[in-house]
Amino acid sequence: MIESNRFVTGNKNASDAEIELSLRPANMLEYVGQRKVRENLDIYIKAAKKRGEALDHVLLYGPPGLGKTTLSHIIANELGTQIKITSGPAVEHAADLAAILSNLNANDVLFIDEIHRLNRNVEEILYPAMEDFALDFVVGKGPSARSMRLKLKPFTLIGATTRAGMLTSPLRDRFGIIERLELYSAEDLATIIERSAKILKVEISKEASLELAKRSRGTPRIANRFLKRIRDYADVKGSGIVDKTLTDEALDRMDIDELGLDFVDRRILSIMIDKFDGGPVGVDTLSASSGEDAVTIEDVYEPYLLQLGFIARTPRGRVALPSAYKHLGKSLSKEKEQELIELKVEE
Ligand SMILES: Nc1ncnc2c1ncn2[C@@H]1O[C@H](COP(=O)(O)OP(=O)(O)OP(=O)(O)O)[C@@H](O)[C@H]1O
Ligand SMILES: [Mg+2]
Repeated sequence: MIESNRFVTGNKNASDAEIELSLRPANMLEYVGQRKVRENLDIYIKAAKKRGEALDHVLLYGPPGLGKTTLSHIIANELGTQIKITSGPAVEHAADLAAILSNLNANDVLFIDEIHRLNRNVEEILYPAMEDFALDFVVGKGPSARSMRLKLKPFTLIGATTRAGMLTSPLRDRFGIIERLELYSAEDLATIIERSAKILKVEISKEASLELAKRSRGTPRIANRFLKRIRDYADVKGSGIVDKTLTDEALDRMDIDELGLDFVDRRILSIMIDKFDGGPVGVDTLSASSGEDAVTIEDVYEPYLLQLGFIARTPRGRVALPSAYKHLGKSLSKEKEQELIELKVEE
């Protein structure tokens, strides 16, 4: 709810915008981590270029701040083509999308961010466009109405979404390449932090960048955001050099614990444990009890809590796992522990 004041949300806020441009890697070599996705794309891009054809349509999905937009720009860059950028909510009318599509040059990339938010009329324009590189129109009314087809130049649609599950199946089926971005390892994040520090001209110790990485919940955007905050802290409080002590101090002050959890994560876990005896509890119930939006819980909090093994998704709802009890210092009876582990197995 208080998104903009939160440090750990992967969602973009206003102050991210300026630094993101300068920190955004421009080619595959600078793009850290996501090895499988990078390797796959590398092959597809080379093959498309060799044949002189447009790359197959690409769907990139995963939690906010993992590099979907960045990767889309890199793909266009590697293809050596232009990229046109729009987003689901920005395209209001089918005619707007038709205009964008008919203005693309051969093999260009059209990037649609938040593609799950396209409205249905607009989305339907995309079906023949993606499949046959064509736009279908109905001209005239009543018995004299005829359908007309307008050829488009071949292009690549790149769609990005945090919610692949919300895409309609006709749309999802038209993507030849579907890649899921994963949360980053601490090592990869440390590399990203070191790269960003160089660009921002911040001196940071190895130990500090690893500590920062461990607390950035697998998300480059959060790592960069922390780095920027700590740089301010170092300039004012210290000698301008970011070391481990200063990093710990700054993060503690932001109420980020040693695993990168903030008060909302801890509250969600506490509610699961104290109010629902560890669960299973449905996401809507959790949303009502915590005051956090259900979509935010699913997109922003859960991926990291799942990765930590603090919660599990079961057919009956979410359960808190023994490691979450331990992290929060809550007691857990042997029987309950057994019960939670059995619930997890049902997963
Ligand atoms: N693999 C990477 N290597 C280096 N930096 C990265 C990488 N991925 C992301 N970043 C950094 O994180 C920032 C956020 O990435 P990006 O905007 O591409 O995320 P996103 O997945 O599109 O997020 P959203 O879902 O909010 O649109 C980028 O500006 C970039 O600096
Ligand atoms: Mg994006």
